[in-house]
Amino acid sequence: MKLPRLASSDQPAALIDCDALIVGVTPGAEDTLLVVGDVLGEAHAHWLQQAAAALGNSGSSDDCTVLPSPEGVLATTVVVVGLGRDEFTPATLRHAAGSATRQASSAEHIAVALPAFDSAAAQAVVEGALLGGYQFTANKKPSQEPTWSTLTIVGARDEGALQAGVVVAESVWWVRDLVNTPPNELYPESFQAQVTDTLKDLPIDIEVFDEDQLVEGGFGGIVGVGGGSTRPPRLVALRYRPEDATGHIALVGKGITFDSGGLSLKPAASMLGMKYDMTGAATVSGVMRAVASLKAPVAVTAWLCLAENMPSGSAQRPGDVISIRGGTTVEVLNTDAEGRLVLADGLQAASEEHPDLIIDVATLTGAARIALGERYAGLMGDAPATALVEKAAQSSGELVWTMPLPEELRKGLNSDVADIANVATGSSLGGMLVAGLFLQEFVGPRATQPGDDTEASRIPWAHLDIAGPASNTLGAYGYTPKGPTGATTRALISLLMDIDQDGIGTLSR
Ligand code: BES
Ligand code: MN
Ligand code: ZN
Repeated sequence: MKLPRLASSDQPAALIDCDALIVGVTPGAEDTLLVVGDVLGEAHAHWLQQAAAALGNSGSSDDCTVLPSPEGVLATTVVVVGLGRDEFTPATLRHAAGSATRQASSAEHIAVALPAFDSAAAQAVVEGALLGGYQFTANKKPSQEPTWSTLTIVGARDEGALQAGVVVAESVWWVRDLVNTPPNELYPESFQAQVTDTLKDLPIDIEVFDEDQLVEGGFGGIVGVGGGSTRPPRLVALRYRPEDATGHIALVGKGITFDSGGLSLKPAASMLGMKYDMTGAATVSGVMRAVASLKAPVAVTAWLCLAENMPSGSAQRPGDVISIRGGTTVEVLNTDAEGRLVLADGLQAASEEHPDLIIDVATLTGAARIALGERYAGLMGDAPATALVEKAAQSSGELVWTMPLPEELRKGLNSDVADIANVATGSSLGGMLVAGLFLQEFVGPRATQPGDDTEASRIPWAHLDIAGPASNTLGAYGYTPKGPTGATTRALISLLMDIDQDGIGTLSR
């Protein structure tokens, strides 16, 4: 589906010719509703309030009622969406706008008259409206193509904020598209080709490591995991380098285009949905697209660790010992714990450039879903790094929850024959945390000053386990459809757009 064209309008809402005009309501006294802002005049507001309330709209968020327009309003329908009782924050507006466009999915021209008083609110309305209206129809009959072609924002002045909203939403759409694409179409090579094609007009330098170069470079994790597939693995580095960068941040994404488990084969039911196991790589690709378009102040390198985890005669075996980039050996006790193997190579490669911060994103463990459910991403790592991610998530209305990396769990990964094992033997408790502890080992040291012979500490690092929020199986809400969500893409964009010298400074004690 193509992104609709964005327009802004200073006309009175009643005079905007569209299929669906979105207005907000808030709960009044005793089961009544109040239209927010003077969008349609008193008489119309009165009628809409009464009609929506009579049809069960309580004004709380996700309550949405489609009504035929009253006389004198040019729109064909008015979509009355609840904004709740509380303050109208950007998060509330994003949610409401998305809820409305999602439920006005057959409209061709949509206009939004929500209270976007400032730039942040205006951007949130655009983001929400576009994210809520997303559909993936690439493999359906053309007759099922959505017809949405224009989005008009009523009364918003800040053109820059509106355009930023479009760029952010476009990136999240792309993440969702990549994740939705079936695994027979999206595999390491085609993933890389899509990324190269989509980013070609942006100031991003692209380096691709093919399977020979991966072997040559000692990337034993990616080579080991990808070895079972007829479709060879890839490592892709995306580099954005603005002039006078305030610092350098590396992103590392898990890109398993299908996770069958390998020889430690998943049961049939657990394999369903495992095309989504490349969401981390899609997320960091989407982030790069946005930050390069919006000209983030910081240099960013994204590492996409792409492989298909399949069982075959050439697949790695439980018991194999592989060597990660940099030389650390890993005993592969379970080929289904493959994400941490490809990320180990990615974290090492990222570390070699000594960035100020590394953030990895991965659908890493089923344990994260069990612990946190489907809306919260698990956040682990060094306190200054996780604090930055947490702040960015908060300001973009995304949900993360900080989890510990308990040192005593590390000994579960001790191996008799290698430097470390890829899964804990004996106990499966704390699976999300154990995976985090494994990754931590592959974060390299900071650059040392010449003449400084003290042992360098690790590069500040944060890990996002998005196994839960990457996909929404429990029903659409707000701007989140069923299926791939693009969760954490916006949080990372906001982190990179907003970071300044002080922010970088908080990372170096
Ligand atoms: N991609 C999965 C994580 C996952 C599992 C996501 C279930 C969503 C639902 C990952 O590669 C995996 O298989 N992890 C194993 C690790 C285990 C073998 C230690 C898991 O979580 O079961
Ligand atoms: Mn797996
Ligand atoms: Zn996996």
